[in-house]
Amino acid sequence: MIDLQPSEQGLEDYPFLATQLQALLADERDFIANAAQFSAFLFQQIGNLNWAGFYLARGEELVLGPFQGNVACVRIPFGRGVCGAAAATGQTQRVEDVHAFTGHIACDSASNSELVVPLFKGGRLLGVLDLDSPSLARFSVADQAGIERLAAVFVELTDC
Ligand code: SME
Repeated sequence: MIDLQPSEQGLEDYPFLATQLQALLADERDFIANAAQFSAFLFQQIGNLNWAGFYLARGEELVLGPFQGNVACVRIPFGRGVCGAAAATGQTQRVEDVHAFTGHIACDSASNSELVVPLFKGGRLLGVLDLDSPSLARFSVADQAGIERLAAVFVELTDC
């Protein structure tokens, strides 16, 4: 098992994290195993999070997948909340204050900012990767690019 040291917020070395993630997922392609492992990796390695995990596309809804953090909402219709907006638009949602986001679904009152990356394989929406933080404006443009890169490593190394 690779040695994991958590980064401090703002000091995440995303190229290094991408290399670590490649090593972590190198010997396994099972979706549930890799999604669970990736959630734990993000929760350990990215500073100042209170939730990290997956919502998976099932018809016109997102359904809760592997995650780390408190218990969460199970089903989110496309278009609803931050996760639903990412699924409906196919665009990453980087929200500095979730309480100012129309339709935000407050699963955990500790969450104040959120980053949601839609996941695609061959043009098909698999679901979204959701990161929540107790801090306002936790996620910078650099964090968005870094997390999108890690999500791409996960999709490439996993049977989806
Ligand atoms: N706040 C999210 C719901 C998912 S939880 O944060 C885990 C949203 O509005 O999409």
